[in-house]
Amino acid sequence: MEKKFKRTTVTAALPYANGPVHIGHMAGVYVPADTYVRYLRLKKQPVIFIGGSDEHGVPITIRARKEGCKPQDIVDRYHKIIKDSFKEFGISFDIYSRTTSSTHHEVATQFFEDLYKSNKFVEKTSEQYYDPEAKQFLADRYITGTCPHCGNENAYGDQCEKCGTSLSPMELINPKSAISGAQPIMCETTHWYLPLNDYEEWLRKWILEEHKEWRPNVYGQCKSWLDMHLQPRAVTRDLDWGIPVPVKGAEGKVLYVWFDAPIGYISNTKELLPDSWETWWKDPETRLVHFIGKDNIVFHCIVFPAMLKAQGSFILPDNVPANEFLNLEGDKISTSRNWAVWLNEYLVDFPGKQDVLRYVLTANAPETKDNDFTWKDFQARNNNELVAIFGNFVNRAMVLTSKYFGSKVPAVSEMLQIDNDIVAEFVDVKSKVENYLDNFRFRDAQKEAMNLARIGNKYLADTEPWKVAKTDMARVQTILNLSLQLVANLAIAFEPFLPFTCEKLRKMLNMPEFDWNSLGSISLLESGHEMNQHELLFEKIEDDVIEAQVQKLLATKKANEEANYRAKEIREVVDFSDFEKLDIRVGTVLECNKVPKADKLLQFLIEDGLDKRTIVSGIAKHYKPEDLVGKQVCFIANLAPRKLKGIESQGMILSAENVDGSLSIIMPEKSVKPGSEVK
Ligand code: MF3
Ligand code: ZN
Repeated sequence: MEKKFKRTTVTAALPYANGPVHIGHMAGVYVPADTYVRYLRLKKQPVIFIGGSDEHGVPITIRARKEGCKPQDIVDRYHKIIKDSFKEFGISFDIYSRTTSSTHHEVATQFFEDLYKSNKFVEKTSEQYYDPEAKQFLADRYITGTCPHCGNENAYGDQCEKCGTSLSPMELINPKSAISGAQPIMCETTHWYLPLNDYEEWLRKWILEEHKEWRPNVYGQCKSWLDMHLQPRAVTRDLDWGIPVPVKGAEGKVLYVWFDAPIGYISNTKELLPDSWETWWKDPETRLVHFIGKDNIVFHCIVFPAMLKAQGSFILPDNVPANEFLNLEGDKISTSRNWAVWLNEYLVDFPGKQDVLRYVLTANAPETKDNDFTWKDFQARNNNELVAIFGNFVNRAMVLTSKYFGSKVPAVSEMLQIDNDIVAEFVDVKSKVENYLDNFRFRDAQKEAMNLARIGNKYLADTEPWKVAKTDMARVQTILNLSLQLVANLAIAFEPFLPFTCEKLRKMLNMPEFDWNSLGSISLLESGHEMNQHELLFEKIEDDVIEAQVQKLLATKKANEEANYRAKEIREVVDFSDFEKLDIRVGTVLECNKVPKADKLLQFLIEDGLDKRTIVSGIAKHYKPEDLVGKQVCFIANLAPRKLKGIESQGMILSAENVDGSLSIIMPEKSVKPGSEVK
């Protein structure tokens, strides 16, 4: 941190309280934010960590309507679930509040009034869709209709989820209200707009010139927004869920969710520190850092700063380390398709393994590009890194010490060259980790911290204290003293990343507290210092456990395919005489074999009642040939013969194609004589 700052206000995006939190949220926002805050705290730098639930917005009202309850019920339910998950994963907010709190309502109302009274808004009247039956204006999401691009009849007024095009409600063909089903009509409505265009010049200078150090993805997105030029943005909506617009005659209007939510950071600070909150938001010696995902960049780098600037008394963000997205097993994480690893479910399946997930999400953090979470990688990182490197080193150092010296840290006798070399190596780690953390490069920081354990393992392998013990106990003292110092260093360096593990380590080592500034020291533990019982920090995760998770996802995929399945349109009508032309028969499978060099084909020999015939069929992916011998199948007996891979196929075996493309052979329900006709 540069000298000019005395303290840091860290915020993490307020998640919408309409669903639980998943690994994508964690990797994108909460794990890095928490790591950063823990690091500053360990350095004894003043910091506050502000979080909370974002409880307004249209999707919450839609959800409530669907479930037949009030929006407040929805947000009460998820606020609790989300808050608990964060706590369980050690996301160490100083406050986790919500945008339905009374403090937030006051602060957001005041913020709007400040801008309103100083004429920072433009008032505009325009025509918008109105539901004459429900007697209310319709948010874009509340209007459905046919997509003008792909013909999907269930497109929303803001987007078609089938072809992914963003839409405006006017573009929909045959628009319908999602509330009443009525055809909406155009009505005039008045709203307040923040004229972002007036801030464009200032924003260009502030971001593009004064914040060149922002991450390239953040800087790049801002630049492209600014290059496309900014338009006035409405900060109010016609909706009955949210913070009422504090203007006479504005009944039925609320603040737009993206206007009130970021103000939530301020409100929650005020709730935490009613007397001193202003220091954290107005003193130019305070540094403001927003942790967010990439879909939030424009709001945090352009809209919210413009709001703060317009208000005039607040500081602006110094950095906005936004992450890209984390995918899951190759597909975009999606709440509606249930394609996610939910934190509450993870905790049931992997109790006590919060740090493993934190570790993997940091190791794989989507800092510069989208990344993929796979269960295989999760297992490999646990088994090959946490168990085999970190856990193994700590365990060896502790076990050897207790074997030779009981629970006491042995004294150094004499340092040899090899000892001085490893000391030099690990002293170096501190500045590297620090430098990465200061620049929000959490993956690199964690990787570098892991080097402490690598150095330790190598040191033990090179010095072999278990052998030396037979001849030279004084030498063993030195080796184990240094190893324990390394363990203590490891514990400090990893506290921001793996808080639960490091707390266990702190207790094992019997250290009163951690201090980042003592990192790199080889006298963290005095000789003679009494340690506690040691325990294993990590355990191997077996294949069957991982397989169960993969199966769970496959089941989700299958359920989604089935839910999205729509049978094909029925084909053109045919006459009975057309049908009669087909000669469909039952036959018994006498032989069945794979066709060489054709992975889809099986060759059948069929008893057809009159003779034996050969049929080649493309179902090798779905059946084992030996399972079909003796079975009865239906086949078209008068199809003109064709050659497949050089074999003449005399007919076609009938099968049904399932949603997922799998094939199921049609078989008579009772056994019949070969040659029986199918009518
Ligand atoms: N709820 C938003 C989302 O999940 C984030 C809001 S961040 C805040 O995308 F700044 F508005 F609070
Ligand atoms: Zn479409």
